[in-house]
Amino acid sequence: MSVPRTLARLPSRSRSARPPRHGALAPSDALAAGPDTSHGVILYLEEITVSFDGFRALDSLTLYVQAGELRCLIGPNGAGKTTLMDVVTGKTRPDSGSAWFGQMIDLLAHTEPEIAEAGIGRKFQRPTVFERHTVFENLELAMAGSKSVWRMLVARPSAGERERIDEVLETIGLTARRFEVAGTLSHGEKQWLEIGMLLMQDPQLLLVDEPVAGMTPQETERTAALLTSLAGNRSVVVVEHDMDFVRSIARTVTVLHEGRVLAEGSIDQVQSDPKVIEVYLGE
Ligand SMILES: Nc1ncnc2c1ncn2[C@@H]1O[C@H](COP(=O)(O)OP(=O)(O)OP(=O)(O)O)[C@@H](O)[C@H]1O
Ligand SMILES: [Mg+2]
Repeated sequence: MSVPRTLARLPSRSRSARPPRHGALAPSDALAAGPDTSHGVILYLEEITVSFDGFRALDSLTLYVQAGELRCLIGPNGAGKTTLMDVVTGKTRPDSGSAWFGQMIDLLAHTEPEIAEAGIGRKFQRPTVFERHTVFENLELAMAGSKSVWRMLVARPSAGERERIDEVLETIGLTARRFEVAGTLSHGEKQWLEIGMLLMQDPQLLLVDEPVAGMTPQETERTAALLTSLAGNRSVVVVEHDMDFVRSIARTVTVLHEGRVLAEGSIDQVQSDPKVIEVYLGE
């Protein structure tokens, strides 16, 4: 069997670490254990194709994300960026290809809630916080997750839980506003709160779609600092059109075009790539 060219230079799970067909871990145990990133890679997408009525939104797309990485995804409207996130989170099933979270978790074998439980968090563009609750309560509710909102409402958070909320409040820079009702926050602050709500679930991979759209320059700058601080302990994939923002956070940029990877490299490499200038940056 021939190995795709892209795999030859990567620590691919497909070649070196394919899990045994009747492996020691049941799928549910693999989920609970979270992603196995012992090969340095947290996300493997290989030859993913997604068609809508014959139109290929993703066209045999292959992409790898390293553990701890902050990756930016850019590309023109309709390139397939959101569809890629839909595949990773289980919202959209590809027609073909494979998608693995670490070595052991086959994303195509799991439902959306199972994938979230395994450690993939997703932030949509519009903030969806509980407007009538305080910042603190929003984080408390997020901690309850799908488990028991009822329990959370009747019980006070334990010392450990309060500590975790305090930690996240610090991370997202909203400690001083903890007792304010979320509805009074600025657009940027709501975005940070929602990132905080995702962090309460301690995801190993965070997908963030257009985080700085509608933000002031100051908020954009703080968001760059926040996302940069999150990488390392976890992996973050950010879709964004704001190139100054991309420049301020990204080590590696992947450019999508017509459902495929057009270019990948440092921001300087992709910004000077004639193919990228032609389809995207030259607009
Ligand atoms: N549910 C769907 N049904 C039909 N076509 C779809 C569906 N979802 C996406 N598409 C199409 O697939 C293509 C890729 O869309 P996608 O939303 O992934 O692009 P994008 O890169 O996120 O673009 P943008 O920068 O505008 O957000 C587009 O042509 C879009 O119209
Ligand atoms: Mg999109």
